[in-house]
Amino acid sequence: MRFSALGLLGLSGVLSATAVPLVHGEEQDWNLKREESAQEPNFLSLRPSLAHQYDSDNNIPKEKHFVESSFHYHYDGRFANETLPDEKVAPYLSNLIQTYLATMDSIGAETWIMHGTLLSWWWNMKIFPWDNDLDVQISEPTIHFLAEYYNFTDHHFEIPGVEGGRTYLLEINPYYVVKSTLDKLNVIDGRWIDKSSGLFIDITAVRPDDAKRQRGHLEALMCKDKHHYEESDIFPLRESYFEGVPVKIPYAYTELLAEEYGSSSMTKTLFKDHHFNDKTKVWDRISSKVKRMFRRGWGGDDIPKRSPGTEPVIRMDAV
Ligand SMILES: *[C@@H]1O[C@H](CO)[C@@H](O)[C@H](O)[C@H]1NC(C)=O
Ligand SMILES: *[C@@H]1O[C@H](CO)[C@@H](O)[C@H](O)[C@H]1NC(C)=O
Repeated sequence: MRFSALGLLGLSGVLSATAVPLVHGEEQDWNLKREESAQEPNFLSLRPSLAHQYDSDNNIPKEKHFVESSFHYHYDGRFANETLPDEKVAPYLSNLIQTYLATMDSIGAETWIMHGTLLSWWWNMKIFPWDNDLDVQISEPTIHFLAEYYNFTDHHFEIPGVEGGRTYLLEINPYYVVKSTLDKLNVIDGRWIDKSSGLFIDITAVRPDDAKRQRGHLEALMCKDKHHYEESDIFPLRESYFEGVPVKIPYAYTELLAEEYGSSSMTKTLFKDHHFNDKTKVWDRISSKVKRMFRRGWGGDDIPKRSPGTEPVIRMDAV
């Protein structure tokens, strides 16, 4: 079902992939498109044994596991020495999230989008053209599962128009077992890293908030980055599409977005030098002059448009 949905969108083939995870020290090759085999660790079958609790407030790590590059905080310096050219960031980010979502879906690891990525989904199910990062979350049992079976695994994807495809690395922070928000150096629990460019997605785990639960607040959830949720904010997850692939969305997405960005974030069509075109559902880049006109209430519908096929031609006889 999952990949036939891709087929419906005309995207089959976009995400054909081979993952080479080390499972109990044993190398396995498989294609993301094929059926799950019996030996593959499956999240649901392992879930009960993975929900350990760690008492960590007295044992805060002194080192930071994920080190960002010196040239840009959204790049991993092990794989790059410079940022991508501006026009390449959007397609690379799109491939990052497509391959991440496909991989998590294939290994049965529950994940959903949050923060700015959820807001950009809200508008047109695509990344904002000005974005340079993406945010995803996973549940606590999922991070145990990924740490135990998929840490430091390479996942290779064929990508249309990219010779040789790209390899993505899934890395889990060893300090994910420390739940305390005092561990400020390790608020990111995992990363999905494009080894060809160094660009990555931050993965954060959403965990039961033990302190609040002990005080009788039974739905309380928290992340190490100090975001707090209710179970009913996130679960049951809803199904949608993002960048053309299936994605899961937190249940109360409108409330979550209003809380984080204000309700105007869902109505304001002018953002970061871009204007949202209601007809095409695209964020168009605009000049500051046009931006001022929009601010004064201009609708943007009265720009003359050249008729198709009438592009200017240089008259050679006039040269
Ligand atoms: C970055 O530059 C250093 C020094 O020139 C080089 O040794 C290294 O291989 C480069 N790394 C990448 C990922 O290109
Ligand atoms: C994942 O692997 C990396 C590289 O070996 C290691 O530094 C890190 O501690 C591992 N994470 C976990 C959760 O074991």
